[in-house]
Amino acid sequence: MSLSIESSFPLANSKSKIPQIGFGVYQSPPETCVKSCLKALEAGYRHIDTAQYYANETEVGHAREQSKLPRSELYLTSKILSPAEDVESTYKKIAESVEKLDGPDGYADLFLVHSPNAGSEARRLMWQALELAKERNNVRDIGVSNYGIQHIEEIKSIGKTWPPVVNQVELHPWCQQREVVKYCKKNNIVVEAYCPLVRNEKAKDKTLLNISEKHNVGPNQILVRWSLQKGYVPLPKSDTPSRIVSNADVYGFELDEEDMAKLDGLDQGKKGAIVQAVTNE
Ligand SMILES: NC(=O)c1ccc[n+]([C@@H]2O[C@H](COP(=O)([O-])OP(=O)(O)OC[C@H]3O[C@@H](n4cnc5c(N)ncnc54)[C@H](OP(=O)(O)O)[C@@H]3O)[C@@H](O)[C@H]2O)c1
Repeated sequence: MSLSIESSFPLANSKSKIPQIGFGVYQSPPETCVKSCLKALEAGYRHIDTAQYYANETEVGHAREQSKLPRSELYLTSKILSPAEDVESTYKKIAESVEKLDGPDGYADLFLVHSPNAGSEARRLMWQALELAKERNNVRDIGVSNYGIQHIEEIKSIGKTWPPVVNQVELHPWCQQREVVKYCKKNNIVVEAYCPLVRNEKAKDKTLLNISEKHNVGPNQILVRWSLQKGYVPLPKSDTPSRIVSNADVYGFELDEEDMAKLDGLDQGKKGAIVQAVTNE
């Protein structure tokens, strides 16, 4: 398998490609976020994953500007967690985020409904507002996060755009969400993996450490590599410069079938989730 930091995936019904590795900025405080994003861009990441909820879209925008990279070489994602009272005012919330990320005439590459948890009316308002944002060129592509199969199916009856190009879910060896992953693959929906490092909580796991020693790399590098080899889009987060670099330094080794099988065998289903597993029915 020849993966590189430049690997990307095509998206359903889109001219854009999504870089396979992304840089997460959840809990990256504003005073650190610009520096961390610039470090990530220097290390070769080209895809940054933020959200309205993370309160650092402005800082991601500053990093974009300071990096001097052509906009077309960057891939910026944000998410909306709750709607306003109607579709048009929900659209305005999305347009405000896009302006923070990329200025008044700018765009976001991808915008997601952050979660289905606010209920069916909230999901409808947010999806239809995302469709408006796409029509009005504020965003290139639209997708979802934490959606189970039922929530994705629901979009067929509320929207004009189907499928959502991605579903971003918690995904690591201990929480593999096999049912929704299988459904997404079948429907040409790219699966993004959040908490790919399990927030370092499994760094002492014996199976992981054995594989890490075998390849002479850190446990977090094994987790990112596993995610890449599974065909997911991992979004490792760090505010520590050396970790930002090492989490993306995963292209000089390859996990073999036995390593992959051992990691696949760690699945604990919903119990293995540290944030949230999706509800499929
Ligand atoms: N859609 C959603 O609902 C949702 C939910 C959660 C996350 N996300 C997205 O997914 C991204 C990643 O998830 P996450 O941030 O929750 O968790 P994560 O990436 O699994 O782990 C991040 C944590 O691990 C630490 N860490 C990073 N690299 C490390 C290394 N090499 N060695 C030891 N510790 C290391 C970080 O600390 P330092 O920063 O101190 O280095 C941070 O505390 C988020 O930033 C966000 O973009 C989305």
